[in-house]
Amino acid sequence: MTEKTLAIIKPDAVKKKVVGKIIQRIEGEGFEIAGLKMLHLTKEEAEGFYIVHRAKPFYASLTDFMSSGEIVVMILEGENAIEKWRKIMGVTDPALAEPGTIRHQYGFSVERNATHGSDAPQTAEWEINYFYKS
Ligand code: RTP
Ligand code: MG
Repeated sequence: MTEKTLAIIKPDAVKKKVVGKIIQRIEGEGFEIAGLKMLHLTKEEAEGFYIVHRAKPFYASLTDFMSSGEIVVMILEGENAIEKWRKIMGVTDPALAEPGTIRHQYGFSVERNATHGSDAPQTAEWEINYFYKS
C-alpha cells in the first residue's frame, strides 16, 4: 500500500553536511519525495512537534536540540513508507543501530541521531499536517 511518512534531517546531520548523502539514500531506496523544505524551528515549534514526549525527561533537551539549527523536512511516499523509512534509519540509539542504517552511519548519540521518521499512519498524518498545513 502506498503511504506517506514525515522524515526530518535533524540539526546534527545538517551541521555535519550529510544532507546530500541522506537524500541520495532516500532516492536510491525508491521513495518519491512529495515535499521538502529547510526550516529553523523555534523552541515553541519544536515543543509542539514533540508534544507526545512532553512528560519525558529528555523533552527539554530534545526541543532545545531540534530548535538549535536548520532541519530538512520531507514527505516521503511509497510502498509501506512508514516502516520502510524507520528500518533504513535504524533504532533510536546510533550505538545500537545496525551497520548500513542512517543512524549507525551519521548519528552521534541517542538524541543527536540524524533523522526522524513517523511511527504509525495516524502519527504520519498528524506530523505531515504539522509542517504542511493546507
Ligand atoms: P524519532 O521520533 O525522532 O523518529 O525517533 P524514535 O521514534 O526512534 O524515538 P522517540 O522515542 O520517538 O524519541 C524521539 C527523539 O527523542 C530523542 N530521544 N532522546 N535522551 C534520551 O533518552 C532520548 N530518547 C529519545 C531522540 O532524538 C529521538 O529520536
Ligand atoms: Mg518517534
